[in-house]
Amino acid sequence: PSYHALIPAAGVGARMGASSPKQYLPVAGKPMLRHALDAFRASPLIAHTYVVVSADDPYIDAVAPAEGVTVLRCGGATRMESIRNGLRALQGSVDGEDWILVHDAARPGLDAELIRRLIVETGEHPAGGLLALPVVDTVKRGTPGALATVPRDNLWLAQTPQMFRYSLLCRALDAATDPAAVTDDASAVEALGLAPRLVEGHPRNLKVTLPVDIRIAEMYLAAFRH
Ligand code: CTP
Ligand code: MG
Repeated sequence: PSYHALIPAAGVGARMGASSPKQYLPVAGKPMLRHALDAFRASPLIAHTYVVVSADDPYIDAVAPAEGVTVLRCGGATRMESIRNGLRALQGSVDGEDWILVHDAARPGLDAELIRRLIVETGEHPAGGLLALPVVDTVKRGTPGALATVPRDNLWLAQTPQMFRYSLLCRALDAATDPAAVTDDASAVEALGLAPRLVEGHPRNLKVTLPVDIRIAEMYLAAFRH
């Protein structure tokens, strides 16, 4: 089986509040989305990379043309829909046994080493796997008074990529009825009663959500240049 990357990049970046979607904002001198594309292209393990954008996206042509990258103009109203539409568009191009690595365009800190670690440590695990970070802070539950301290052992913060066999990922996302409840792909697989493998990610692989995150991402990129 082959390994393919699927990058949802059809969001509008409402919380970033910029004049263009955040995946096209410059991070350390190149558009955010290009960092993810370059990471997958630098990985010898990845056969092909697919990017899902909105049908009317005016920015992608300046960013994506590259060998081994295919643009799918089938973005949906939610992240989950964009991924579902992208998976449907892959039908016929990939095998059901192939692995799909879903990665947010909003995580410019990915590199080939993290991709390798995810693939190696997930191995042939039937439920797939995801990058995640162990929680280091003390976790409180409350509204807004602190009601309880949640023991942080065994707590993880999910990152991407998250990798699953094509057929399993399609089945999991088709079974998910509430798009709002599916904030990542692993949660849809978990809802089938399966337990994807947790593989240690890296803080540099942060998700860029707010304006300040771009500066944090640039600091990580400068600190871990290789
Ligand atoms: N995404 C997508 N299609 C959507 C919504 C989001 O492909 N309808 C993608 C985004 O482009 C991003 C990833 O899913 O790469 C993670 O989503 P998020 O960080 O929430 O990005 P946005 O939805 O663009 O940001 P916001 O929620 O602030 O509007
Ligand atoms: Mg969003």
